[in-house]
Amino acid sequence: MNALYSLFAVFALILLGMAGAAAGMTFSLGVVIPYLAIAIFFVGFVAKVIGWAKSPVPFRIPTTGGQMKSHDWIQHSKLDNPATTGQTILRMALEVLCFRSLFRNVAVQRFGSTQDGVDMKVRYASTKWLWGFALIFHYSFLIVFVRHFRLFTDPVPGFLVGLEFADGLLQIGVPTLYLTDLFLMLGVTLLLLRRMVLPQVRYISLVADYFPLFLILSITCSGIMMRYFAKTDIMAVKQLTMGLFSFAPQAHIEGIGAIFYIHLFLVCVLIAYIPFSKLMHLGGVFLSPTRNLPNDNRAKHHRNPWNDESIKPHSYAAYEDEFREKMIEAGLPVEKDMDEAAQTEAQ
Ligand code: HEM
Repeated sequence: MNALYSLFAVFALILLGMAGAAAGMTFSLGVVIPYLAIAIFFVGFVAKVIGWAKSPVPFRIPTTGGQMKSHDWIQHSKLDNPATTGQTILRMALEVLCFRSLFRNVAVQRFGSTQDGVDMKVRYASTKWLWGFALIFHYSFLIVFVRHFRLFTDPVPGFLVGLEFADGLLQIGVPTLYLTDLFLMLGVTLLLLRRMVLPQVRYISLVADYFPLFLILSITCSGIMMRYFAKTDIMAVKQLTMGLFSFAPQAHIEGIGAIFYIHLFLVCVLIAYIPFSKLMHLGGVFLSPTRNLPNDNRAKHHRNPWNDESIKPHSYAAYEDEFREKMIEAGLPVEKDMDEAAQTEAQ
């Protein structure tokens, strides 16, 4: 049902874009809505980031998956339990650029002897397909997005020309097929199928999980339609986009088909939706205290800023000094016995 609701919502948006274009509302679709969407995006994005940045993080709470820095003779897992800012940055870079935590994704597999039709043994096996789908999707999206800047620049910078050339390297068809168009379609479709086909994932999938995927799918389809089938006058589009960029928008440009306005309308909805949705992971990943903090809890004392001034820190050494006798009596291990403690005090 959640998938259907999202699909209907996206259909409704497409119909709205179509109706607007048919009614000749090109100024609203081509100027007002894009400016509005960008304004909502910026204000919403900045407000979210400020809100997160202002949340106090009194303690270090990084997610760890390996040995903490400890004695020299115990091997430290620098990436999975970073102790310094440098190691944390490296871990974050691998996360953002390579989706490292997804690479380490595991799934439960059952095997071995069967009882009542259920395999009795369980093992955790590496599953890389989600990582693969996610990489295909995000990188194709990024390249398609960056390539669009040819519509906003005159002359088009050399690196964009190079990117377009590399993307169409196989020289299939006229106009040349961009590989990222294929991969983007593939990536979104695989991510959607994963949610719809796997019962466990379907069970936890909400409208807010399907909606962005259907929206991005419809943006991709309308873009592909425009480039390969219902050809659009790119010079006319460029006139509109350059007008928007230079804050001298032009209202009625001849030669731009309805499909362009639908594409642009869907993009505007996506842009305006980002700050209120899970798509904010784009900014959130950098502000996540489980990712952006080194784990130096034992090496450094982190004072809770909410503490009343009268609350003094109580180190383990002081704790042991206070309770040493009782701890020894109770047979608990101590770092210093009574003699050592007396010696330290005498010094
Ligand atoms: C989230 C942002 C966007 C996505 C994911 C997207 C996606 C796509 C895709 C997949 C295509 C097919 C051809 C290609 O890859 O270049 C396309 C084409 C196109 N898009 Fe977008 N688009 C986005 C934003 C925009 C914006 C903001 C505009 C204009 C203001 C725009 C205008 C066009 C035009 C004119 C084409 C046809 C290009 C051609 O014929 O070569 N798109 N889009």
